[in-house]
Amino acid sequence: MDDPAIGETLVAKEDLQRRVGELGREVSRDYAGRELVMVGVLKGAVLFLADLMRHIDVPCEIDFMAVSSYGSQTDSSGVVRILKDLDASIENRHVLIVEDIIDSGLTLHYLMRNLRARNPASLEVCALLTKPERLRVDLSPRYIGFEIPNRFAIGYGLDHAQRHRNLDFVAALVE
Ligand code: IMP
Ligand code: MG
Repeated sequence: MDDPAIGETLVAKEDLQRRVGELGREVSRDYAGRELVMVGVLKGAVLFLADLMRHIDVPCEIDFMAVSSYGSQTDSSGVVRILKDLDASIENRHVLIVEDIIDSGLTLHYLMRNLRARNPASLEVCALLTKPERLRVDLSPRYIGFEIPNRFAIGYGLDHAQRHRNLDFVAALVE
């Protein structure tokens, strides 16, 4: 692709496919004998969630939340607004939050607190990407796809100004 905004590849297509398969098998093993509710965080997690669930062989449902975090375009503030809430109750359900990327961790920290208050049977996180250098809160996601350097990432669901989500690999944005 010759779009000048698309910089170096951070995670290649083949690596995404392999790792998503591994994560799906790991989730299936860990949740054997249980029913799972996968909560996708819109919009970035949509591609990851769709691919991940093809590798999950325990009974599972999906639901979605949309949140917006106040702050500048590239820095979240930790103040999060729910734009779309879950359709169904998660009380006594095994919930796995599926996120595209953990940057400061503030969004997920808020989301976990919010969902934990609804008394799920269990609550875990599966994030495709993390930027360990940027993490500002204490989070221990159960499943992580890849650690990436402190670059703004686009592709495979991740956007910059709503674009580039359709790339089948993850690239660094050229700013
Ligand atoms: P946090 O609250 O700082 O962890 O930011 C989390 C949210 O910001 C993610 O769910 C993404 O939607 C967005 N975000 C953070 N870093 C990136 C990036 O490198 N590319 C695209 N979106 C990002
Ligand atoms: Mg997101």
